[in-house]
Amino acid sequence: MMRELVIVGAGGFAREVAWLVQRINRVSPTFRLLGFCDDAPDRQSGQCGGYPLLGPVENLNGQVTFFCAIGNNRNRKAVSERAEALGHTPVSLIDPTAQLAPDVEVGAGCLIGIDSIVSVGSRLGRGVIVNHRVCVGHDVTVGDYAQLCPGVCISGGCGIGAGALMGTLSGIIPLKRVGADATVGAGTFALRDVPDGTTLARLR
Ligand SMILES: CC(C)(COP(=O)(O)OP(=O)(O)OC[C@H]1O[C@@H](n2cnc3c(N)ncnc32)[C@H](O)[C@@H]1OP(=O)(O)O)[C@@H](O)C(=O)NCCC(=O)NCCS
Repeated sequence: MMRELVIVGAGGFAREVAWLVQRINRVSPTFRLLGFCDDAPDRQSGQCGGYPLLGPVENLNGQVTFFCAIGNNRNRKAVSERAEALGHTPVSLIDPTAQLAPDVEVGAGCLIGIDSIVSVGSRLGRGVIVNHRVCVGHDVTVGDYAQLCPGVCISGGCGIGAGALMGTLSGIIPLKRVGADATVGAGTFALRDVPDGTTLARLR
């Protein structure tokens, strides 16, 4: 039976997630996409990407499966927790082209995008975004609501803290740690640990 799915958020990333749902359904019919929930006053009615705008998550009747498609890590966590408190269930969406080793652990509400690889022994927490063409090496731990933007390379044995952002085409050498809520700027390669809450850019 198809699972009813709501995408939370109705911006560009949310439309990409709708495309991912279509890609998954093409391989194996899995989800019936009901529409998008968003709090923004200008996203309360009408359509987004051909699906209805349903208003805030509080408007949903019954209990549904949802994916929180909000790019900002802090907001994604807050809105996901709001939806879960209402009894809705977060689901992970994995592109059919992604390659995950058999022992990889993926928490609820994660996304793994086109052509991404997650290697042996790695663990993703809840609500983690692994965008397109990301490479996660072996034995990597990624904390809750962290985000790996397109083209990121995480070397083996690294730890990416909860809420951290690895910008587009950034990377990190083996066994280093990016702290909680830290940022590694687009195109920046981290050669040492990045402390919690700090931003590393220009060190390449
Ligand atoms: C690092 C980052 C977070 C800094 O953002 P910010 O605090 O708003 O910084 P600003 O844009 O004001 O830039 C501040 C300075 O850092 C430089 N800088 C910013 N990002 C940089 C980067 N990735 N690499 C090198 N230098 C960078 C800017 O050129 C600027 O230099 P200046 O002071 O000499 O003019 C941001 O630039 C970034 O890389 N974010 C990642 C975004 C991303 O990849 N998104 C993908 C979504 S899928």
